[in-house]
Amino acid sequence: MNEQKTIKILRFESLPSTNEYAKTLRPTGEDTLIIAASQTGGKGTKGRSFSSNTGGLYLSALNFYENFPSANAFLIMAKAATAVCKTLESFSLIPKIKWPNDVYVNGKKICGILIENAFLGDKIKNSIVGIGLNVNNLLPDELSEIATTMNECLQKETPLDLVEERLIGLLYAEFSFEEYCNRLGFLNEPATLVTGEKTLSVVPRGVNERGELLAEEQGVLRAFSSAEISLRF
Ligand code: BTN
Repeated sequence: MNEQKTIKILRFESLPSTNEYAKTLRPTGEDTLIIAASQTGGKGTKGRSFSSNTGGLYLSALNFYENFPSANAFLIMAKAATAVCKTLESFSLIPKIKWPNDVYVNGKKICGILIENAFLGDKIKNSIVGIGLNVNNLLPDELSEIATTMNECLQKETPLDLVEERLIGLLYAEFSFEEYCNRLGFLNEPATLVTGEKTLSVVPRGVNERGELLAEEQGVLRAFSSAEISLRF
C-alpha cells in the first residue's frame, strides 16, 4: 500500500527568507512547507541574495529522513530541479538544468534552488529545499540580461496558485535520476570551471550518479563535485 505523507503548509505575506524560517522549525521534526508571497532577504547560493518581489513563487520544503545516506545528497537537488522543470513543461516551456540545479529557459535563469541539509554522522537528518521561481514578478533591471520569468517567456500571466499546486505535487512525487539527466543543458560546449583559486577550461559531458559533473579537461574526462566548483559559460 502507498503510504501518504501529510505535509503541513504555512503561508506568509512576507518573510525575510523561507529557508531561514524553515530552520526555526527543525526542532519540530515535522515535514513542513513554508510559502511566502515575497521575501525581504531572499538567500541565494554562495552568500548571494535572491530577488523576491511579489508575483514569484518562494517556498521552502523542510523534510525529515529516517535513513538517508549523505552520499546521496545530490538526489535532493536533482529531484527539486526536476520538479521545477516538469512544472514549467506543464505550461509549455522548455527548461534546461544548468548543473547542479539552476533552471534556465531561453538561455536565462528562471529559478534558483538553495538546499540546506542538516547531517548526523553519515546521514542527512533533514533538508530544507528552498525554491525561488520567477512567475509574474518583476525583476530588477540589473538581472534583465541574465534572468527571466514565466510571464516574460509566455507573454502572459500564469495563475500563481496553479504553478504552486503543480510544483508542490511534483516535489513529493516519485522521481528518477534519469529524468534529471534528460533535462541537463549546457553540455558539450566550452565552459570555465572555477575551483578555489583555479579556473579550468572544460567541456561538460554529463553528470554521474554521485552528482559530479563529468567534464573533459585537456582531453581527459574528470569528475568534479559541486561543493568545490562553479560552472561559467
Ligand atoms: C540561487 O539561485 O542562488 C538560489 C536561490 C534560492 C532562492 C530560494 S527562494 C525560497 C528560498 N528562500 C530563500 O531565502 N532562498 C530560497
